[in-house]
Amino acid sequence: MTRLNLFRNPLRRWLGGSAYRPTVLVKELAERDRRRMLKHFIALEKADRLLRFGYHAQDEQVTNYVFGIDFARDMVFGVYNRLFKLVAVGHLAFAPKEAKQSATEKERVAEFGVSVSKSARGLGIGAKLFERAAIHCRNNDVDTLYMHCLSSNQTMMHIAKKAGMEIQRDYGEADAYLKLPAPNPGSVLQEAVEEQFATLDYALKANTRAAVKWLDKLPGRKNSS
Ligand SMILES: CC(C)(COP(=O)(O)OP(=O)(O)OC[C@H]1O[C@@H](n2cnc3c(N)ncnc32)[C@H](O)[C@@H]1OP(=O)(O)O)[C@@H](O)C(=O)NCCC(=O)NCCS
Repeated sequence: MTRLNLFRNPLRRWLGGSAYRPTVLVKELAERDRRRMLKHFIALEKADRLLRFGYHAQDEQVTNYVFGIDFARDMVFGVYNRLFKLVAVGHLAFAPKEAKQSATEKERVAEFGVSVSKSARGLGIGAKLFERAAIHCRNNDVDTLYMHCLSSNQTMMHIAKKAGMEIQRDYGEADAYLKLPAPNPGSVLQEAVEEQFATLDYALKANTRAAVKWLDKLPGRKNSS
């Protein structure tokens, strides 16, 4: 059982229900995480793929999507659990403002898409990824953040409303956008500090995982992974 799962049980409710949430460390993802990203998306159930991609994405389409992500242009954020499993991915895609016919004076706008593994839901991870995406936009001269989802996606609509997004519903779909304030020293520091903590956490988990794998290969040991 993972630590994330642990907080979904009655103990979590006893400790204070949804108010009690473990700290969520959001890490910038890079080329080396692509394989794990694919694993995360492929594990999403049919209904979740529909919510995430807006259509019934087949494995091949999901694979093309993951291998098509341009890390030099876009920003991808992730959350790893204690066992170094990627349990959430947020993709912040940048586009020229003309692509969204946005009234912004900035050159680019951003669109955010997110998914959290079933076992890690309800812990504030989706909302935290959104918050991180918003702060990254602020700090990178983008003042309009879009999100496109199905209007039936109650959880995402809740997160969007809570974040103060303007929501326009249209034939079962919803376009939400958030106007972001200019950056300030606090927003820049917050992003840098959060990334530092997440980087340390990532290195620790990756090294632990590598050490466990190495130990498992020693002669006379049973494979535990
Ligand atoms: C939407 C999704 C990303 C949310 O992730 P998550 O980590 O569970 O979200 P959080 O824990 O941060 O927040 C969930 C919030 O929604 C609320 N919520 C949960 N189910 C709800 C429902 N049916 N109706 C309204 N609100 C709901 C929770 O109470 C919580 O609110 P709170 O923080 O005020 O208590 C996740 O469910 C998912 O991956 N879904 C499939 C893909 C998808 O829909 N992606 C979004 C399209 S871009």
